[in-house]
Amino acid sequence: MSENRIQPLVPKNIEQLKRYIAGKTIAEVKEAYNPEKISKLASNENRLGCSPKVEPAVLEALKEIQDYPDPIARKLRKAIAQKNNVKETEVILASGSESLLSMLCRTFFLNKQNAITAEATFVGFFVQAGVRGIHLKKIPMTSDYRFDVKAIVNAIDDQTKMIYLANPNNPTGTYINKKEYEWLMEQVPKEVLVIADEAYYEFAEEVEDYPKALDYNHDNVIVLRTFSKAYGLAGFRVGYGIAKEEIINNLLKTKLTFEPTTLGQAAALAAFNDEDFLKKSVRVVNEGKERLYKFFDEHEVDYKKSISNSVMMILPTEEAAVDFTQKMLEQGVILRRINAFGLPNCVRITVGIEEEMDHFEKCFKKVMINS
Ligand SMILES: Cc1ncc(COP(=O)(O)O)c(C=O)c1O
Repeated sequence: MSENRIQPLVPKNIEQLKRYIAGKTIAEVKEAYNPEKISKLASNENRLGCSPKVEPAVLEALKEIQDYPDPIARKLRKAIAQKNNVKETEVILASGSESLLSMLCRTFFLNKQNAITAEATFVGFFVQAGVRGIHLKKIPMTSDYRFDVKAIVNAIDDQTKMIYLANPNNPTGTYINKKEYEWLMEQVPKEVLVIADEAYYEFAEEVEDYPKALDYNHDNVIVLRTFSKAYGLAGFRVGYGIAKEEIINNLLKTKLTFEPTTLGQAAALAAFNDEDFLKKSVRVVNEGKERLYKFFDEHEVDYKKSISNSVMMILPTEEAAVDFTQKMLEQGVILRRINAFGLPNCVRITVGIEEEMDHFEKCFKKVMINS
């Protein structure tokens, strides 16, 4: 073998890739600071837990645990298709919507093609695109922290394969409205695949000018949703995509055969059928957001109103954001700095249940105004 043909062990795109760093776990915080109480408000999970119907369904499914899962999750797929008025063959299940992002990146790209998204959006997409060496055009947000649809359209070129829109967006909680979405979709060539990541759909669906991507029936759109947020099943890893059969059939070729797991499928089906729990979750988040806005107004804190289950606090500097997050952590309130999302002076707060919001306010006062 001639020497100049030997390639380094790790390809350049992987070597340069930044890992997705998740929010801190309760166990990590306990070990480091052992605070009296811990409120995990860092990862946009459902602080109410999940539907009580999940546990018996999972116990029942355990009886079949020696068998491989149903590779296309028939029962769950059928329920999702019925509720969304689409064909079963237009639905794909996977181990979280992050897995679908990975699948999309490994299925649809040729060398040299690019994807367009915003600068301050879900980092999971940056990572999955980076794994495949996809050139990402990250478009700066508008001054009010929203996707700049005009600049996105201007960035489309002959090599653009995909546009990633998180709507509502994480970490800002802002959204592309109906008018913007409709205009954007008129401009996007039909060969460009648009990912409408609706991970926070259930919190947003009642907002009047929020565009539900499924309502438009575009052939080049895949809608992604998840059981990790409003349904409270982040630990089970179940998400789904809805798109035309051509897209779904090709994704099924690159999907890991047996995702999601048997237990994940059973849990998701039970959760999906419990409308009361879902409604309660959305109500708790809406009440918590109103409370947080009021608290921030009273304390003259800058923030962005949100249609998801988190609120972004805007601090004057990066140092202030680092200091605030660290001091809150020592008090047991786990928050998320969003420097990795390109917003170094901002902190994201997942809206929790009443006692967690009490804890947040108490610690905020201690940390920020020393009272
Ligand atoms: C916008 C967005 N998309 C996707 C995900 C990933 O969710 P899942 O747990 O389904 O992989 C998240 C998680 O934070 C998210 O915020």
